[in-house]
Amino acid sequence: MPKDLIAVLDFGGQYSHLITRRIRECEVYSELLPYTTTQVELDRLNAKGIVLSGGPASVYDENAPRCDSGIFRSGIPVLGICYGLQLMVDMLGGKVRATKRHEYGKTPLEIKDNSDLFKGMPPNFVSWMSHGDYAEGLPPGFEVIASSGNCPTAAISNRSQHLYGVQFHPEVAHTEKGMQIIRNFVTRISGCSSSWTSHSIIDTAVRQIRSEVGGERVLSAVSGGVDSTTTAVLVQRAVGDRLQCVFVNHGLLRKEEAEAILKALRDELKLKVHYVDASTRFLDRLKGVTDPEEKRRVIGEEFIRVFDEESRKLGTFPWLAQGTLYPDVIESAGTGSPASRIKTHHNVGGIPEWSEFKIIEPLKFLYKDEVRKIAKELGLPGSIVGSHPFPGPGLGVRVIGEVTDDKVRICREAGAIVEDVMRRRGLYDEMWQAFAIVGDDKAVGVVGDHRQLGHMVTVRLVKSLDGMTADWARLPEDVLEEISNRITGEVHGVTWVTYAITSKPPSTIEPC
Ligand code: XMP
Repeated sequence: MPKDLIAVLDFGGQYSHLITRRIRECEVYSELLPYTTTQVELDRLNAKGIVLSGGPASVYDENAPRCDSGIFRSGIPVLGICYGLQLMVDMLGGKVRATKRHEYGKTPLEIKDNSDLFKGMPPNFVSWMSHGDYAEGLPPGFEVIASSGNCPTAAISNRSQHLYGVQFHPEVAHTEKGMQIIRNFVTRISGCSSSWTSHSIIDTAVRQIRSEVGGERVLSAVSGGVDSTTTAVLVQRAVGDRLQCVFVNHGLLRKEEAEAILKALRDELKLKVHYVDASTRFLDRLKGVTDPEEKRRVIGEEFIRVFDEESRKLGTFPWLAQGTLYPDVIESAGTGSPASRIKTHHNVGGIPEWSEFKIIEPLKFLYKDEVRKIAKELGLPGSIVGSHPFPGPGLGVRVIGEVTDDKVRICREAGAIVEDVMRRRGLYDEMWQAFAIVGDDKAVGVVGDHRQLGHMVTVRLVKSLDGMTADWARLPEDVLEEISNRITGEVHGVTWVTYAITSKPPSTIEPC
């Protein structure tokens, strides 16, 4: 790991991950840790600065989450954000109270001191507020460094103790100059230097893999997605041809995808890939299965079975490389508020507990955008780096009801048209995902002069930052018309095209 760390203690705020990501955008390594992390542990991790995140509680609630008080005496710079500010005030002897009027949304700030946290900032700028409590009385040694109409203590500091607090959210894009504030805290106040770059991430990962794996062999499941491919390329850099990749085609891939992926993996990236076409097997197993969760379970289980059988043919592998990302690690460690599981996600390489592999997860400290950056640096083809996320169970979750050959064909062909139109119109990169869905609904159409009962296809175009929430894309009518005309004209058996206009929540992105 890089020598400089900024620890973000998570009090369950909706922006906790965003704070960590913003710090990493300053090229400084940051981790999201449970709010119970002690000063001794933070010392051991060599934290150079600590951020206390926002959170839904009020400090005066009976069971309000509190951090180790040693943190405030350690001399390590601390920045409290929203709840973090209030906690610092409360724990150090100030007074926090409910405001008469909640402040929510864009709020003008007046800066009173721009010598360190606000260095280089104008005297007035707009911040993003979302609070019902505020610091009415400051602890000894603190002073106000910014205020807003409803919050006289919008930012505070105790410079000699290196303690800072902001009532607003600098990590949110609506706060003008928010990045500058974070950068000031990370570099100017905490003294971190830029060491979290694509180059250093790759270098560290390769060294780490080499030292873990030694001279042993590594197996990796690849899907052609950016996570599994980046994992494979990193391992290949570390252990060369002691890496063996397995690519399972479950018959639920997009149009011409298997060929394109194989070509990229073998010809461009020079990976040693064992290709398995298990389409028939998967489609057989899916016969009669209609329930979404059951479909996911069957596909996941069959994947493991095929992977296990095929890898045995290739010899013995003590190690398995997986493309687990940081948010998954955090989620399973349960740092923040646990979100209830809506769907069972299946990822390529997700191997059950009974497996005897030793696991390497070179991406487990990275966010998706960081993976994309290092993928680019590692020379992965643009088609892989920039492609939309595609779920592990593939078209299986875009076909509603039973997965039949005919519905898979329609889903695949119509999906390829949707992607093609988006690409040609220069809209592909603006979308998080762009695809087609087909179920069992049929509607009457007129083909030539004949009445025809055909499938209804739903087009799904969504914008999103991370897939956790998503908005349906407002597109010009002529784009939708082109998609509709092409699908009914080019995909046999489709008579109607509809457009999904539900955002997530309340819907999810994939229909199953
Ligand atoms: P939902 O449908 O839950 O999807 O709103 C959120 C994001 O996750 C993708 N997704 C998956 N990715 N394995 C994956 O690797 C899965 O089983 C899976 N299911 C959904 C989905 O495409 C969207 O980007």
